[in-house]
Amino acid sequence: MQPLDQFAAEKLLQLESQNLRRILVETHRSTNGTAKRSGRELISFACNDYLNLSGDSRVVRAAQKAIEQYGVGAGASRLVTGNHPLYQNLEKRLARLKNTEDACVFGSGYLANLGIIPSLVGAKDLIVADELSHACILAASKLSSAHLEVFRHNDIHHAAEILNERRAQHPHAMILTDGVFSMDGDLAPLNELSALAKDYESWLMTDDAHGVGVLGAGRGSTFSSGVQAEVPLQMGTLSKAIGSYGGYLCASKSVINLIRTRARTLIYSTGLPPAIVAASIAALEIIETHPELTARPLENAQLFTQFLGVPEAESCIVPLVLGDPEQTLRASESLEKEGYLVTAIRPPTVPTGTARLRFAFTAAHDPKDIRRLAEIVKQKILKG
Ligand SMILES: Cc1ncc(COP(=O)(O)O)c(C=O)c1O
Repeated sequence: MQPLDQFAAEKLLQLESQNLRRILVETHRSTNGTAKRSGRELISFACNDYLNLSGDSRVVRAAQKAIEQYGVGAGASRLVTGNHPLYQNLEKRLARLKNTEDACVFGSGYLANLGIIPSLVGAKDLIVADELSHACILAASKLSSAHLEVFRHNDIHHAAEILNERRAQHPHAMILTDGVFSMDGDLAPLNELSALAKDYESWLMTDDAHGVGVLGAGRGSTFSSGVQAEVPLQMGTLSKAIGSYGGYLCASKSVINLIRTRARTLIYSTGLPPAIVAASIAALEIIETHPELTARPLENAQLFTQFLGVPEAESCIVPLVLGDPEQTLRASESLEKEGYLVTAIRPPTVPTGTARLRFAFTAAHDPKDIRRLAEIVKQKILKG
């Protein structure tokens, strides 16, 4: 048998030769849209704290107060003694924001998907998922043992073809998609997917990690067209625009009660620290009362696409697909030299041949910096 260390070293060498090795870089992130690396301050376009709430004084104070009152850790899973009094307030607010009967909070967005999907479908059932759905949707689908079919990105006709061919063979079916695609920044056609779900008696679930707080006056992609799309399972994270940590599902009372009873990542994992729950509550209060703040990240992303002369941003995320991982790494390095932090996204996070720069816009970005960034991108990357 190959010794473990040798196996790891060879695997790393192989990844390195393809420019696919990932390295953790120490980063001192400020909550105003800047970050320090190796002592150098950069303007960051690489952060999902879209509303800069992770450092908002009201959010920080709420967390401090909760630590003083409840201590640091939750001490046990929610079903044992970890269900401290703050959870009820947070779940009520989430349900109100998403216009559902109830909500259930998990340890993270990843854990939420891993808990929700296998609680609702099993080996005899069908999952039809957009091919660019987040990694945790696909991981949860596999974990459920349901038959998984992926449809071409945002291609309703392909999804319909799959359902037409397979739906009758399975007692239950779920249609899964991101609301905002995390590496592409485009939106799922939720009204069409909802109609499809009705036609094929399937349950539609969206992952709105990148929509909540920043689209539809803060209510997320389900509300972005002005009318609420019919999505019975609205999942999301508290760790991006909400600036805190955790994941959630908003749904009907009966679905949430089933999830609380069945979701293994809720049952067998410790509850969130009370301070984190308190921070999420304070952030949601800001989101609900400041629609003008929630609109700003998208306005900034649209300013960038306008300066760059590319199709208008649909969300806070703007990708620039370069294709080759090495070229993408070099492009990210050249922007860093100019004082901008922009992440190079490579396979397997994105499909082979589609390595890209991913620009993420927050409410705190200054239009002057956005214009300068667009000019540098035009000069150094698009013409280079
Ligand atoms: C679309 C999407 N879903 C789920 C997650 C996971 O959420 P969390 O970071 O809370 O685990 C992320 C973020 O990483 C994401 O982008």
